[in-house]
Amino acid sequence: MDLSDVGDDLTEVLLIERQILDRIAELARFIEADYAGERPLLVGVLKGAVMVMADVARELRLHVDLDWMAVSSYGEGTQSSGVVRILKDLDSDLTGRHVIIIEDIMDSGLTLSWLTANLQSRGPASLEILALLRKPNKARPDVDAKYVGFDIPDAFVVGYGLDYAEKYRNLRGVGVLAPHIYQ
Ligand code: PRP
Repeated sequence: MDLSDVGDDLTEVLLIERQILDRIAELARFIEADYAGERPLLVGVLKGAVMVMADVARELRLHVDLDWMAVSSYGEGTQSSGVVRILKDLDSDLTGRHVIIIEDIMDSGLTLSWLTANLQSRGPASLEILALLRKPNKARPDVDAKYVGFDIPDAFVVGYGLDYAEKYRNLRGVGVLAPHIYQ
């Protein structure tokens, strides 16, 4: 669905689809240079990273493997609970693999902090993070994303994989959710 399809549910449009795809193309060129001759394993973090994963993987002119993890740190509210649970683990063995975690957003950083420690313990040759969106003021200092799409303000954002109560994931762009929707 388009940003215009959700009426006054958004107070602001942060990114339209074209901006997202252009930035993903730029990040893909960096990844191609960094992993020349390699076959990295892209680990998508369900459900939010579905759109980023699909677009990054298709943009890359490299062979890649795709795998998925489902973890949860949020309920249906707007705040991180700090509790990370594995809902679905990887199918792949990470031993000796060049792994890139693909995330839609680094908010508090709790999810990525926990995930990098967890995946690092499985013996990958390397482990990096691609996060399409980042809230810099809230990012935990021990999490370093090598590939970041956009730094965004500390607002409740939806679209392009990001949900509120499972809605808006299929929005083509990213916008700030109006308070009247979640209050
Ligand atoms: C969202 C998002 C990240 C995480 C970021 O996932 O996709 O995984 O929160 O927040 P943090 O940096 O504060 O930890 P969520 O748990 O909402 O699951 P979802 O991807 O299925 O929507």
